[in-house]
Amino acid sequence: MSGAIRFGILGTGRIARRFAEDLRHVADAELTAVASRGPERADAFADAHGVPLRYPSYESLVADGAVDVVYVATPHLVHCEHMLLCLEAGLPVLCEKPFTMNAREATRVVAEARARGLFAMEAMWTRYVPLVRRVRELVRGGAIGGPRVLAASLGLAPDAEVAGYVRRLEEGGGLLLDAVVYPVSLSFHLLGPPAAATAVAQFHEAGVDDQEAVVLSFERGALATIVASLRAAMPAAFAVYGEEGSIEVAPPLFAPTRATLRRRGGREEELEDRLLGHGLAHEAAEVVRCLREGRTESDGMPLDETVAIMRVLDELRRHVGLRYPFEEEGGT
Ligand SMILES: NC(=O)c1ccc[n+]([C@@H]2O[C@H](COP(=O)([O-])OP(=O)(O)OC[C@H]3O[C@@H](n4cnc5c(N)ncnc54)[C@H](OP(=O)(O)O)[C@@H]3O)[C@@H](O)[C@H]2O)c1
Repeated sequence: MSGAIRFGILGTGRIARRFAEDLRHVADAELTAVASRGPERADAFADAHGVPLRYPSYESLVADGAVDVVYVATPHLVHCEHMLLCLEAGLPVLCEKPFTMNAREATRVVAEARARGLFAMEAMWTRYVPLVRRVRELVRGGAIGGPRVLAASLGLAPDAEVAGYVRRLEEGGGLLLDAVVYPVSLSFHLLGPPAAATAVAQFHEAGVDDQEAVVLSFERGALATIVASLRAAMPAAFAVYGEEGSIEVAPPLFAPTRATLRRRGGREEELEDRLLGHGLAHEAAEVVRCLREGRTESDGMPLDETVAIMRVLDELRRHVGLRYPFEEEGGT
């Protein structure tokens, strides 16, 4: 690839706009194309973000060969379909979280990417945020002793910006897939894969989960507890407690910049890091690095881990009794 890495975006919604803004902060990357199901939306997005190429359908963008990688910024219900569209056209993908609706779809996408030798990555931007990288290094380096508890609260109070489909069952809505995926992914990142997962949930009248408590248990004697709500005015934050200290990370959980490290004996250290743009620029920079180095996945968000996370979300959905109308009888 000569010249900057050319990104194309599928979808023109909220996160697509933020990503377009953030790509300006990424060296060696340019936003070359956008596609929408509505030509007027593609034009408006392209004009607003200075995107040279705009397409009236997703199919026309992937067929044109004008981009090096596609960022899939559509709702999760259609992630699998849109990732396969890109991969089958020979294009690497970065896809918004949750990667798919369930582990079966995730496995299918990963198999397709691997069979074609193409890069694929779940856009779990939190993992690439500098402060989260630092927290992981500290936890892994033993700064708080053996980690024993990760506690996360995830409040998206009623007035928070939540996409409409989150409250619609038939569109793959619910809090678990839309938001609880973040602390579940963080738990994998900081504590490893859980040995067991359970949850209880309360449901909105539309049949989607809008408040829940999740517990993950890890073989080395650690627990993660996650309380999430679309009803309560709670912060979105997390902390990791070890045998010899703790790291309390200030909100927002998705892209934190401040934390307090407490070591044995009460010594306290304030940690602070900056975000590039809204914070999505860090994951975009990782995509550029991987493509330049000829990698087909990122060490920060390995594809097998993405599939394992989807399996845990499937399991949690079984516990709370959340099934989508389009899922086959007998399995997710
Ligand atoms: N990383 C983050 O912080 C973050 C934040 C919010 C959301 N997300 C994730 O990003 C994805 C998109 O969320 P969003 O908040 O940007 O949603 P949104 O504002 O509703 O935008 C989604 C876009 O996808 C396109 N689309 C394609 N098929 C669609 C369908 N069947 N129904 C509705 N829209 C469809 C639409 O664009 P066109 O009509 O122009 O084609 C729409 O504008 C979700 O998976 C969500 O979980 C991530």
